[in-house]
Amino acid sequence: MNIYPKLKGQSALVTGANSGIGKAVAIALANEGANVVVNYVTHPEAADDVVSEIKNNNGNAIAIKADVSKETEVQLMFQKMFETYGTIDILVNNAGIQKDSAFENMTLADWQLVININLTGQFLCAREAVKEFLRRGIVKERSCAAGKIICMSSVHQVIPWAGHVNYATSKGGIELMMKSLAQELAPKKIRVNAIGPGAIQTPINTSAWSTPDALNKLLTLIPYGRIGQPEDIGKVAVWLASDESDYLNGTTVFADGGMLLYPGFSTNG
Ligand code: BGC
Repeated sequence: MNIYPKLKGQSALVTGANSGIGKAVAIALANEGANVVVNYVTHPEAADDVVSEIKNNNGNAIAIKADVSKETEVQLMFQKMFETYGTIDILVNNAGIQKDSAFENMTLADWQLVININLTGQFLCAREAVKEFLRRGIVKERSCAAGKIICMSSVHQVIPWAGHVNYATSKGGIELMMKSLAQELAPKKIRVNAIGPGAIQTPINTSAWSTPDALNKLLTLIPYGRIGQPEDIGKVAVWLASDESDYLNGTTVFADGGMLLYPGFSTNG
């Protein structure tokens, strides 16, 4: 753990924290002194590994299983979190999946699965967190806000994505959910923001980086010339969760190596 932790004594829930971006965010928050709930729905052993890594680094963490798209499972997860850590200060709405296909072949089941997990899951978790933030209010010793919500979005809240219509729709939805929540809750001193990662090297996009050809093609979309690492996003999450970003409300911080800069136009147009 850092010598001067920025999130000392705060409690954080990170959904989908047993792999990829969620795992890096959980580890980064714990490294700054937060008590972290590592949420998962499959692969409990991977969640246990994240908890062990945090504990080995003198942090606090527990793993809690819940499918974020199921109302009762989400409510039970919050209950368990409150039994262990008493409250919640930081919610990182991270859990998300892709079910890609050409639009004409997209099944209703794959449309709904992606919307249910990526968008409805963020709604369900945000609602439980907000109830607790409102009940408890500000605890000055921990933070000047009554609570912080960080929604994991994507560059695809802006960039349309052929072959991924369900996913891009979920991310576009996250943007206005996040902003509307931020508008509604700012007067209550609750901050709601988002992170828009670009291509981050995780299991969700293995096919985009696992062969040299795929990686080279991907890099033509990234002006900064490297694929992102989960830790790049962990650092942004720490900042958005801490009082150092206290004046940010309803903002998406894009961490994408310049993917949103229309690299196709750098030599044309
Ligand atoms: C997707 C990745 C993709 C990246 C950039 C993310 O939101 O989950 O699969 O590589 O956006 O296109």
